Amino acid sequence: MSQTFRMVILVSGRGSNMTSVLEALKNKTLHGSVECVISNKAHAKALEVASDFNIPTQVIESKNKAAGEFQKQILHALQTLQPDLIILAGFMKILSAPVIEAFSQKIINIHPSLLPKFPGLDAQKQALEAGEAHTGCTVHYVDEGCDTGPIILHKTEEILPTDTVDTLSKRLLKKEHKCLIEAIQLIQKQHFSEQS
Ligand code: GRF
Repeated sequence: MSQTFRMVILVSGRGSNMTSVLEALKNKTLHGSVECVISNKAHAKALEVASDFNIPTQVIESKNKAAGEFQKQILHALQTLQPDLIILAGFMKILSAPVIEAFSQKIINIHPSLLPKFPGLDAQKQALEAGEAHTGCTVHYVDEGCDTGPIILHKTEEILPTDTVDTLSKRLLKKEHKCLIEAIQLIQKQHFSEQS
């Protein structure tokens, strides 16, 4: 059975979810390869981490650029890389319709809430302020909306009375790392069964 599975990870920041994917590949919890890590920010910490794992990186700056031009450059980079799966791991831009259409059902995102609750920014703060007893994280396919695509996997986390945004975010992040790997495993299982 061929284990070819080309992944590209899009990031904007520290990249702890990206790191969990790179570690899972190293310890063979996941199969395949990360062909490139693309950041829309030149100084994203994730770029340094990816280089430490010997993963090629690209910066496609979103700042000081027309949105259409940025999306065109992202599309071009992805078409060149031909990934089986594109992982948005703390990527803070919304992909345009041409990018989504070109990679239909091949783009996933990790989000720190139980979607459809609390999409968008500050999801942990939104959950705390709503007085929820539980929140969680979600991996979903990406459509043209903000955190609205079909859900692949959820993980739930209790909100403690003593929680702050910081303590809740830290606990959630650990769950996110697991949720992302498990979601990719599900996608890989389907991909490899179709290949065999
Ligand atoms: C995570 O909470 C992710 O769910 C959200 O942005 C954060 C990125 O963290 N989309 P990291 O860069 O993966 O550490």
